[in-house]
Amino acid sequence: MELKVAFLAVEAAPFAKVGGLGDVAGALPAALVRQGVAVTQLLPRYGQIDLTALDATLIASDIQISVGPETHAFAVWRVERDGVHLLLLDAPSLFGEAQVYIDLRDRVRFTAFCRAVPAALAAAGFDANVLHANDWHTALAVLEADPALARVLTIHNLAHQGITDIDYAETLGIAVGELLEVERHQFPGKINLLARAIAAAEQVTTVSPRYAREVLTPEFGAGLETVLQRRTADLTGILNGIDTERFDPASDPDLAATYTADDLAAKAANKAALQRELGLPVEAERPLLGMVSRLDGQKGFDLVTSVVPALVERGVQVAVLGTGLPEYHALAQELVARYPEQVSVTLAFDATKAQHIYGGADMFLMPSRFEPCGLGQMVAMRYGTVPVVRETGGLADTVHELGVDANGFRFVEYTPQALLAAIDRALATWGEPGRQRWQALQRNGMRADLTWDGAARQYRDVYERALAQRPQSSAAAVAEQRA
Ligand code: GLC
Repeated sequence: MELKVAFLAVEAAPFAKVGGLGDVAGALPAALVRQGVAVTQLLPRYGQIDLTALDATLIASDIQISVGPETHAFAVWRVERDGVHLLLLDAPSLFGEAQVYIDLRDRVRFTAFCRAVPAALAAAGFDANVLHANDWHTALAVLEADPALARVLTIHNLAHQGITDIDYAETLGIAVGELLEVERHQFPGKINLLARAIAAAEQVTTVSPRYAREVLTPEFGAGLETVLQRRTADLTGILNGIDTERFDPASDPDLAATYTADDLAAKAANKAALQRELGLPVEAERPLLGMVSRLDGQKGFDLVTSVVPALVERGVQVAVLGTGLPEYHALAQELVARYPEQVSVTLAFDATKAQHIYGGADMFLMPSRFEPCGLGQMVAMRYGTVPVVRETGGLADTVHELGVDANGFRFVEYTPQALLAAIDRALATWGEPGRQRWQALQRNGMRADLTWDGAARQYRDVYERALAQRPQSSAAAVAEQRA
């Protein structure tokens, strides 16, 4: 049967991107099309999305969507892009701001978005047989989907579950008398949209094989481990890819000098340019550690701040780029004040500077507490910048310290000591005369297959499985409702 997928996510690069979800939703649909899957992607039309520049065609207007007592009118714009039909769902009262996530209003905004999907697909004449939702924002579309659709849910991060007060249940069409067991026990007084979609979807995926196993444990399951354990037969971990054309040291226009795995010499010019840009002493023989990250509890920035004094003692330079929690901003500024010669922090999201760090640093730090997939380590590898990572989630699946395909350094315990020991192993290897082993690590990383094609093939298999389950599971759902 031909696969016709309605792909839902509330971020998609380059139109609207906050984090990794935006990168995935910006690249996976086109990769699916290359695998012979027909894809219609649906995205809210946020304020910054310029319909004229995109040459968008209006295909519907005045679609009325109810959310509790409110009614919202949507228009639908179609854009063709890399073989993907993109539908922009336009309701200025909800999505007029140039911002994906705002606040408590998000539950109304995304409820309305999910409910506008069927009418938008109908206006586009797209007869989907699979609905692929991503994260809690589109979980309601799984719950309210036409029974003819096979439903696939991808979890990018269990830290965000769409937990909402029970007084919103009626608006969501959920009977307060029919709470899930996990809601009653783990989230008293709340509705958990992600939990519900995990229980309801035919197939559930996470963004790396290791994370798919981790989420079954209390340490990583964020309260949903029991719901996920019941779905193990239908749970698959599919590693994300990266955009290997955009992220290519052989052609990246943001680099001071381009280079390849066969000829790494020009990487040095990028390091010098980066040191200059950051106001650090321009010294080739001083190891430079980069970090590009959200600065929050997930990413292990607390570990990094505790090892900085030891790194400074070892003569290392550290360059951090990112934004996040105010307390981490303060900590970072303190470190710069103490070690201005060796520590640089840019508290901003700056895509160009990010490329400068990926291209110019010697090593890339990603000591995450948990990491569903992680994209930074893959981008770093592509640029021959050797990752030092905590062995968790997608980091464990992509970075190897031992064996012929070794490409980085990893540690297990979430402690400053373990991180420092891994950095010390990296520094020792970097410091070897001739740097042969180091260059082997760089080349292995640069030559790894990080494209989206393998992932797209695996999603195709998941769609097939979901379709095969569909008649049975909708019968089961009807039976469940009657019971
Ligand atoms: C989330 C996860 C990250 C993953 C990304 C894309 O941001 O935290 O690990 O790479 O989603 O799937």
